[in-house]
Formats: sequence, C-alpha cells, structure tokens
Amino acid sequence: MTAVEMSPKLVGSDPPPRRMPLFGLGKALRKHPFPTIPPQAYQAPVLKVPTPGGQRFYVVSDPAGVKRILLDHVANYPKTERERRFFSAMFGDGLLSTDGDMWRAHRRTMAPSFSPPSVASYAPAMAACAEAFRQRWDQAPEGAEIDVAEAMTDLTLQIIARTMFSTDGADVAGVVRGTMEKAMEQLDFNILDILPVIGEHRFKARERRIEAIFAEMDGAIARMIAERQADAEGGPQDLLARLIAARDGETGEGMSPKEIRDQVVTIFLAGHETTAATMCWLWYLLSQHPQVEARLHVELDQVLGGRTPGHEDLAQLPYARMVVDEALRVYPAAPGLSTRMALEADEICGVKIPKGAMIAVAPWIQHRHEALWDDPGRFDPERFAPGVERPRFAYMPFGGGPKVCIGAQLAVTETLLILATLAQGYSLALRPGHEVEILQKITMRPRGGLPMILRRRRR
Ligand code: HEM
Repeated sequence: MTAVEMSPKLVGSDPPPRRMPLFGLGKALRKHPFPTIPPQAYQAPVLKVPTPGGQRFYVVSDPAGVKRILLDHVANYPKTERERRFFSAMFGDGLLSTDGDMWRAHRRTMAPSFSPPSVASYAPAMAACAEAFRQRWDQAPEGAEIDVAEAMTDLTLQIIARTMFSTDGADVAGVVRGTMEKAMEQLDFNILDILPVIGEHRFKARERRIEAIFAEMDGAIARMIAERQADAEGGPQDLLARLIAARDGETGEGMSPKEIRDQVVTIFLAGHETTAATMCWLWYLLSQHPQVEARLHVELDQVLGGRTPGHEDLAQLPYARMVVDEALRVYPAAPGLSTRMALEADEICGVKIPKGAMIAVAPWIQHRHEALWDDPGRFDPERFAPGVERPRFAYMPFGGGPKVCIGAQLAVTETLLILATLAQGYSLALRPGHEVEILQKITMRPRGGLPMILRRRRR
C-alpha cells in the first residue's frame, strides 16, 4: 500500500447518512455538503429523491444524462425560477441569473476577456500579486499561524480587481469582501423556505436584506464605472471597457449602468470566492499528502528554480496541473450547479422525468460517483495523468454546456500561478488538532477559516 493510500481521512470522504437527518442536520452539514441526498445517488445513474415539500426531485449523475440536461436538451432544462430570483437578488441580471437573449448578448460581449490570449495576458499581473503575497509571508516569523482562507480571499480579490477592472482594488476590494460575507449569512435556508406562503414571505424579506447589504458595494462600483466613463482616453482595454463600449447589434444601444453593474458584481463575486476556496482545499490536501507535495516541489524546483512563474512555464508543470485537477475533483468549489427544471416531460437513462420536475446535477456527486471513479474519496493526482481517459461530463468542476463557467480557464491559470509561486517558498501545515469542516453556501469552503502554520522551504 502506498503512502498516498494511507493518508488520513479527508473531510467529506465519508458517504452521506442513510437517512435524512432532520435533527442534527447542522452537524451533518459540517461533514458533507449534501447530507440530505441519500447515498444511492452515488451509485445510481438517476435517483428520485423524496422531499419534505413533496416536489418531484431527481439527481442525475450518469454522464450521458448530464449531457442531455446541460447540452443536448438544454432548452428543456432552464434554471428554476427560484434560483434565478435568488441569484438576481445579489447579481441582478448578471450572467449567473439570466437565460435567453439577454444572457446570450452579454456573454458574447464578455467572452473576449476570457479567451486564451486574454487569460495569458493576465498571467504577469496574477504572478505579480502572488509574488507580493509571498514577500508578505517572508516578513512573518517561521512557524507563524495564518488564516489561509482569509489570505487566499485577499489574494484572489486583488487578482480579479486588477485583471478584469484594472484597479488595485484597495477601495473596492474591502467593500466586496464585507458584502460577500454578509450576503453569505443570508443563505441560511431551512424547511420553512419551501412552504407556500411563509416561504414567499421569507424570500421577500431576504431579498430586501440583500439589497441593503449591497448598497455600499453598489456605490463603490458606480464610482468605478463613472470614473472610467469620464476618462477621455478610454482607460485600459479590460472587461470594464468592453462592457461600457458594447453596443446592441440591431439597435446600437449601449448597456445601461444597471446592466454594467450587474455584470461587474457577478464577476467580482463569482471570480474570486471560487478560486480562493479552491486554493484553500489545495493547501489542505497538500498538507495531508506529503508525497504529493514533495513531488510537486521537485517539479517546481526543476522548472522554476525559485523564480516567479510566467504563463509560458505552465506547460512545463504537468504535475502541478494534475494536482489542481484532482483537487477540483475532490473539492469542487461549486459542489452543486443551480437546480434545473424540466419544462416538458422527458426520459433520462430510462427514467421518466415528469414535466415540472426539479433536477439536480452536482459536480460533488459526479466526482464521487462509484461507477465513475475508483475509490472516489481518495486524493490521487495520477487520475489526471496525461492519456488517462474518462467519459465527458464525469468530471465537471466548471459545469458544462452553454452555461459553463466563463472563467474556467482563467481560474485554472490563476490557481496554477498562485500555487507555483507560493509553494516554491512555503509548505503549509494544518494547525495541530484543528478539524477541518465544510461550509456549503453556494460555494464550499472550510468552515471558520483554515488555520495553517507557515513553514519555509529550504531548497
Ligand atoms: C475554481 C474556480 C471556479 C469554479 C469551481 C467555478 C465553477 C462554476 C460553475 C460550476 C458554474 C456553472 C453554474 C451552473 O451551471 O449552475 C460557473 C458559472 C460561472 N462562473 Fe465560475 N467557477 C470558477 C471561477 C470563476 C471565475 C474566475 C470567474 C470570473 C472571473 C467565474 C465566473 C462565472 C460566471 C460569470 C458564471 C456564469 C456563466 C453563465 O451562466 O454564462 N467563475 N462557475
């Protein structure tokens, strides 16, 4: 048995409870992102799950079934109205909360900012932010304890502010961070939320609270947009410039201030929280798998020899890429996609799906499905060695189909550059005795932060 196989048990690696834990749900949620989904979902291609409200609810895990929902028959499976409303309380009509013509037009406008050449052009800024961070760590005494969750959030916020909006983010980033934390506190759904009248009442009250929470951030973003619009020379050609310059192909009209705000908020929030969470899980996984970390260090030392990585180095770091891909399998930062609804009756993998049924497709379940992965709870980057094949839609940390994450390539590049920069100088150890738990609120992070000890590497 290799040392990887003997590694300690990871949070979330136990199967979910056999019965829905109506009592003690809070405790179960600390160990598992979806404790109410029965363990059969990790074995069956399609599973009908009983719900307290009696809705028809199916979990689809078979890759062909997932492809049907997200790609082949995508028009039959829009996001549910409830999820759309929930996202639009925060993001207005940003990409995450829209479908149809508006979504298509805005996605087309924004796509060039996420193209491979654009992503490559962000690499120097990403690496510079990570390098500045490493220098900050250099000031800390050996063995200092840091909250990695806080550190990674600071870093990814800086990166998104610089690359997408060409600001150092100092003024906006603090506000974004505070807003995000308070908004997340509003995601405390419980059984009352699915009751007909009370549920609606609670939803409206939550929408009002979220609106108030976003007021300060909206002000900061409005100033950022106004400053750019007032810049006679047009300013840098970034995502913000693209949103301001976009014109409708038929009417020639530009995007309204509210439309621009909605996309800026969406990218600010969706673009940093997920990457920060991924970095946290990576540090945690490396701390629990010293042989993987050692092999990563060898690769980094050989290819980079202590210097800051550039985009051109990434192709020379295949093991780092395998580690990142496997971390995104074991801990996908967005463990469940938005729930979809069947507009018309359908059949998936021989199971009849009635009209109006709710459909869950969850990267977490796909990635831990027993028919798709051997010993799925084990962290093993070799699964992503070049040449290893797997069915399309078995692995989907960024979703799939037309609504696939627009920032997928940016996120992988950013994660690799941060990892390569910081792991060259540091190995992080979990605070002794600290038990990592899960906090699942759209994204999945370590609950209560991630206390780790800074250990300088001697090469
Ligand atoms: C590791 C990091 C990330 C993960 C795991 C992730 C995951 C996802 C997933 C699973 C979806 C699909 C949601 C659904 O279908 O319900 C999504 C959508 C989206 N993501 Fe990401 N994401 C990451 C990073 C980013 C970054 C860096 C950005 C922007 C800079 C971004 C912006 C978006 C947007 C705007 C959408 C909505 C796309 C659309 O509907 O057209 N994400 N993301």
